[in-house]
Amino acid sequence: MTHAIIFDTDPGVDDAQAIAIALAHPDIELLGMTTTFGNVTIDVATHNALLLAELAEQQIPVAQGAADPMVKTKNPPPGHIHGDNGLGNIALPETTTHAVSQSAPQFIVEQVNARPGEVTLVAVGPLGNLAAALQLDPSLPRKVKQVVVMGGSIREGGNVTPVAEANMFNDPHAAARVLQADWPLALVGLDATHRCVLDPASMEKIVAGQPRLGRILGESYAFYRRFYQQAQGIDGCCPHDSCALAWLLQPELFTIQEGYLSVITDGLAEGQTLLAPLSREFVDSRWSIGAAKQVCMDANGPAVIEWIVDTLTRNG
Ligand code: BDR
Ligand code: CA
Repeated sequence: MTHAIIFDTDPGVDDAQAIAIALAHPDIELLGMTTTFGNVTIDVATHNALLLAELAEQQIPVAQGAADPMVKTKNPPPGHIHGDNGLGNIALPETTTHAVSQSAPQFIVEQVNARPGEVTLVAVGPLGNLAAALQLDPSLPRKVKQVVVMGGSIREGGNVTPVAEANMFNDPHAAARVLQADWPLALVGLDATHRCVLDPASMEKIVAGQPRLGRILGESYAFYRRFYQQAQGIDGCCPHDSCALAWLLQPELFTIQEGYLSVITDGLAEGQTLLAPLSREFVDSRWSIGAAKQVCMDANGPAVIEWIVDTLTRNG
């Protein structure tokens, strides 16, 4: 089955790996990329999305989106994790292509309305573009095929605060709207992505298998790897954003729990995601807003890594 997707992204080292998969996988039709602030500023995010498509020699529309969170004051981009240029501070060529004239939310609404029931939104950054698209077209939930979000954490704890994952923390108000909307959504959070570690030997295979993007993926990985060594004491990186695509194409590699999601928007726990399992009844209706969602609670890490390496070595 081919999946027609819009990839909403803040590239970002692990975003770049996922973009390489979206560009390469024969079962993915990449309709476009929409960009958001997050790992980098919005201009850098758009530059990197354009650059990766150009280097892969594919004409993929890129629509620029959210520059800031909906409500909260923006935190500075995490240059120590992704580099100030989002790709490990390696030297990058200039781009020759430009973003389309539509904004990211306009692009999402147009594409989904052009192919009702067919388009999957895969979002791997803060969720301002999806929240704005919902506002622009409130009937969007009935027209998308599905939504896959990399973000959040139920039992694993956070990676920015003790309870908040980065994409949720960067725009909790947008995240709350998206995770409580009445649409079919799967959340691929740290409970799954922390089970997956892309080790240096696997990365070497990817570099060798990617003649066009290999240098950027490999050199930016080296920077990201240093962060993981210092911060988490592991030799390798969690390919968070690639896991969203792995869920889309290989859902059997993940353990799912169904339930209602909430996001804390203010205070010490801002950005925390909460799951009310469908299997239990709760007295307070505030815990069951919108449709029930599919939440990844675990992943077969080695199999996910094998799928990533296989995808990027077979399809250069
Ligand atoms: C998420 O935050 C970003 O740093 C990554 O690109 C990923 O989308 C992981 O928490
Ligand atoms: Ca990301």
